[in-house]
Amino acid sequence: MAVQISPSILSADFARLAEAAAAVPNADWLHVDVMDNHFVPNLTLGLPVVESLLKATSLPLDCHLMIEDPDRWAPAYAEAGAGSVTIHAEAAKTPVRTLRQIRSAGARAGFALNPATPVEPYEDLIGEVDMLLLMTVEPGFGGQKFLDVVLPKIRRARALIERHGGQIWLQVDGGVAAETIERCAEAGADVFVAGNAVYGAADPARAVDALRELAAKA
Ligand code: DX5
Ligand code: ZN
Repeated sequence: MAVQISPSILSADFARLAEAAAAVPNADWLHVDVMDNHFVPNLTLGLPVVESLLKATSLPLDCHLMIEDPDRWAPAYAEAGAGSVTIHAEAAKTPVRTLRQIRSAGARAGFALNPATPVEPYEDLIGEVDMLLLMTVEPGFGGQKFLDVVLPKIRRARALIERHGGQIWLQVDGGVAAETIERCAEAGADVFVAGNAVYGAADPARAVDALRELAAKA
């Protein structure tokens, strides 16, 4: 499995997002947390900011939609040019249609599960998905403590993915840092979102390299 690192700009300075992107040229993705103050108790940014970011960086955008109505909004992020668009299982009412719309607009389709949402009920959707995102904190805020309780689900999701050909990426998001990334990688994750661990570091690019090395050796 190839390790990929997706720094979350939630932990960056929102007045300097272009600089935040430029600070991690060695990243695989730039993780963009879209929050609407309804699905999660926090408000961040939306499509206009994503459109501006697309012009400001050559890194592909990994848009994580923590919003109440992803069925309505997700296709527009894909049409705008996001490389990956992830919707939440707990929010989507028509996930098959929405995941297909994301793909047909040219983006990778991601499907996210909160810590308490089991993966097994979604096995039949696996063919509609390019990346499964397992939240390792309750969504809404950066800098929270990693939830070890999700580790067994990471293992079960990896096993499920392998049963279906092993092509789907398995992303973890929340509290991923030097102290926790090896546990995630060992359990089967291959795409790692990191906010505080990257943008809280003195040298964000070095932090990306360090996280990548730790995950690769796990
Ligand atoms: C939380 C967001 C995360 C957040 C992670 O709801 O989805 O992407 O930025 O931040 P850290 O890595 O600081 O936990
Ligand atoms: Zn996120």
